[in-house]
Formats: sequence, structure tokens, C-alpha cells
Amino acid sequence: MSFSNPKYYSNTATLYSAALDEGDYHDWKDSIITGLMGFITPFPEKMRINRAFVRQMYEGYQQEGFNNILDIGAGPIPRGHEWATEANIMYVDHNPDIVEHARRKLPAGASARYETSSVGALPGLLEKGLVDGFFDDSRKVAFGSNAVLMFVDDAEIKSTFQYLYEWCAPGSVLKISTTGITGSESDLRAKFIRTFFKKVNAPMHVRNVDKFCELFAPWKVTRRPMPLWEWVNWPPSKMTAGIGFDIYGIELRKE
Ligand SMILES: C[S@@+](CC[C@H](N)C(=O)[O-])C[C@H]1O[C@@H](n2cnc3c(N)ncnc32)[C@H](O)[C@@H]1O
Repeated sequence: MSFSNPKYYSNTATLYSAALDEGDYHDWKDSIITGLMGFITPFPEKMRINRAFVRQMYEGYQQEGFNNILDIGAGPIPRGHEWATEANIMYVDHNPDIVEHARRKLPAGASARYETSSVGALPGLLEKGLVDGFFDDSRKVAFGSNAVLMFVDDAEIKSTFQYLYEWCAPGSVLKISTTGITGSESDLRAKFIRTFFKKVNAPMHVRNVDKFCELFAPWKVTRRPMPLWEWVNWPPSKMTAGIGFDIYGIELRKE
């Protein structure tokens, strides 16, 4: 199978897969690029930390008793159904190759489905009944979108998350992980990061962390942006801490 449908900037998923011990959606070229990136950047370690955050998110949702989980940009190796075994889980991703790849591995007994949808197309699909008859009728939903929104425009994020806020019931929760910088979006470091990820064919938005909260209005921020290594208590190293560019977690709720 080819992992490189350029229409979807497939490297956003293949490099991630190559960085993870459990990854199975990449080829040897991705492994070489990721290995080289590991010498000069914290990329592979950051991806493993993100994965630990995703697991903690699912286990937390299970503990809180959520019956319905919607994972936006769930990627090629979804494991939420192993970590929150009692919930109905709807995975979506905009890349149909990824959806097909992941669907083949969903265990028969799992209450999980995987459909193709971009962040921006999600409201339309929910209107058409994407989760009707699969989620319970409460519309109390736990949402996740991890290591995805750095690839999505501000306008698309704002309109979709505003829609989700209106669509879901009070008590719903949203956990996000996304890259952020503590400095200015127009300084040299931010430009370097943008250029670097463009070069590896995974172009991303580099946003200042103080801007995250406004992107998700009117969701109420219940845990302010925090580097994921702190969130999951990953042992700090010179690769994880204090470099001014990180993957941040943020938790928001509808009360
Ligand atoms: C780095 S992977 C993260 C996968 C998963 N969320 C995780 O944390 O394990 C990023 C995923 O986002 C998906 N993606 C990128 N842009 C997207 C968009 N606009 N809408 C939906 N999915 C998108 C990619 O196809 C890819 O599978």
C-alpha cells in the first residue's frame, strides 16, 4: 500500500507512525527521515509523548463515565477502543487511505467506527446523522483532537468547534493537543519551524499558545495550555523541556 497521497500531506501521519513503536503506517523512507530528525530535533520523542497523552485522555474519559467519544483526526493507529472499552467511539480523519487502513484493524467486538471527515466537514456530517443510532441520545460527548489542529486553518477550527459546542449537551468535554510557541509567531524561530515542516512535507501552523483559547470560544477552558510532557509527567530531558516550541494540551468544557 502507498502511504503517500500528497492531497492530504500524508507525512503528517507517516512520520508520526514512524516515530512510534506501535506505528504501522509508514515505509522505510519515513523511518530514515524520522531517525535523522531525532538527531537534530525532539520530534520522535514529542510524538511518543503525544501518544501517552492520547492514552491518558481515553482512560480519563472512561473513568469519567463518558459513553460517547468523537476523535477528530484519529490517524492510522487508533487505540481508543482498547483504552476506553465501554464507550462508543467515532473516529474520523480526512485521509480516506488512513480510514481504510485503520478500519481493517478494528476488532469485530469493539464499539468503534471510523469515517472519513475533515475538521471542516464534520458539522455537515453530524447534521446528516453521522453518530445517530451509534451514540446514545444524550449528546453528552467527550471530544479529542490530538496532533491535528496545527495542520488546520484558524477559520476552520473556529467554525467547527463553535458548531460542536452548540450541537453537544452540557457536560461535554474537549481535549486538544497541538503545537505551540511561547514567542512571537513572526520571529525567526517560528519561521524556521514552518520552513522545516514544509520541507518534510508536513506544513503546519505555528501558533502562540496564548491564542489557543480564543480559537475554541465559547468552550470554557478548564485546563490552560500546558506542555504535554508536564501533563503526562514524562521525565524532562533537554529534548523535552524549555525550548519554547512544544506540543501543548488544553482541556475545555461545556457547562
Ligand atoms: C500526527 S497524526 C495524529 C493522529 C492521532 N490523533 C494521534 O494523536 O494518535 C495527524 C492526523 O491528522 C489528520 N489530519 C490532518 N489534517 C486534518 C484535517 N483537516 N481534518 C481531519 N484530519 C486531519 C492526518 O490525516 C493524520 O492522521
